[in-house]
Amino acid sequence: MLDKIKEIQQQIADFTIDNKEKLEQFRIAYVGRKGAMADLFDGLKNVIQEERRAVGAELNALKDLAQTKFNEFQTIIEASSDKSLEVEFDLTLPNIPNLNGSVHPLTLVRARIIEIFEKMGFNVSDGPEIESDFYNFTALNFPENHPAREMQDTFFIEKSNGEIKDDILLRTHTSNVQIRLMQNKKPPLRSIMPGRVYRNEAISARAHCLFHQVEGLYIDKNVGFKDLKDTLYHFAKEMFGKDTKVRYRPSYFPFTEPSAEIDITCLICKGKGCNVCKYTGWVEIAGSGMVDPNVLENCGIDSKEYTGFAFGMGIERITMLKYQIKDLRLFTENDVRFLRQFEGQ
Ligand code: DAH
Repeated sequence: MLDKIKEIQQQIADFTIDNKEKLEQFRIAYVGRKGAMADLFDGLKNVIQEERRAVGAELNALKDLAQTKFNEFQTIIEASSDKSLEVEFDLTLPNIPNLNGSVHPLTLVRARIIEIFEKMGFNVSDGPEIESDFYNFTALNFPENHPAREMQDTFFIEKSNGEIKDDILLRTHTSNVQIRLMQNKKPPLRSIMPGRVYRNEAISARAHCLFHQVEGLYIDKNVGFKDLKDTLYHFAKEMFGKDTKVRYRPSYFPFTEPSAEIDITCLICKGKGCNVCKYTGWVEIAGSGMVDPNVLENCGIDSKEYTGFAFGMGIERITMLKYQIKDLRLFTENDVRFLRQFEGQ
């Protein structure tokens, strides 16, 4: 028996383990329940009583030897040969997130505005962002010396000179598209005109040199102020919810007469008064009015036959109210933590 133990001991010492297969062979032969070790333990019952204790001790030592060698090589083989595989399939590494894109909140709100007006029979028109003074100001009945023409508000691209007949500028509002539409198409006209506008303003939480507006225009026979009120009332309810109250406040724009600014209940304090609504309970969402007869005539439309209303609203403003965003700069910073909040909207 002791000879047999010595022999197996030698075999264990001589066994070279240099790959996974060898390790497995070794396990079956010397560690597993059915290998050489099992036979030896089996034979223990044939050993005479007096020697059994000593032989048992030898056997246990042999078993430990085999197990120790197995453990040692198992660690070595796992750490070395399978390294490349391990990196590729390391199941403990965090997952690479499969990020969903999200629609920019301004795109979202622009689409919603279009959807609401399309259901009321408005189509969508487009016009240039680089514009002449005529379309941006003169045709809209701005007097020659109106302050909006001054450098602090408007980005001028080229000043008129002998060659260039009119100043060229970045449009300061989408109202230029009204003029182009009325010049190019005969009434009835019912259109909204979303787009980018530019103003020479210092960037802050409340102002930006680039923002978006949606212009609206409805020209037909017998269009009255009531139509303007109904249309924008319906828009406000659809956009901000049925409980939203709407009010029309007299105002002034060169291109409309009479003019009104449209306010809705402050969505932050629900009309109770807060710093967003300056404790009035109301926030402004749009400018509007009946198109001034001078503007119709500037575009070749007979103001005795046709009347119409127009309105203009800032998409950023609508979005800030709808989602309670307090800083305009968030729209252009492209911080994913901000943008991700609109996933699935
Ligand atoms: N153009 C104006 C602005 O930028 C907004 C506006 C007010 C447009 C009244 C209109 C209107 O068509 O009727 O502040």
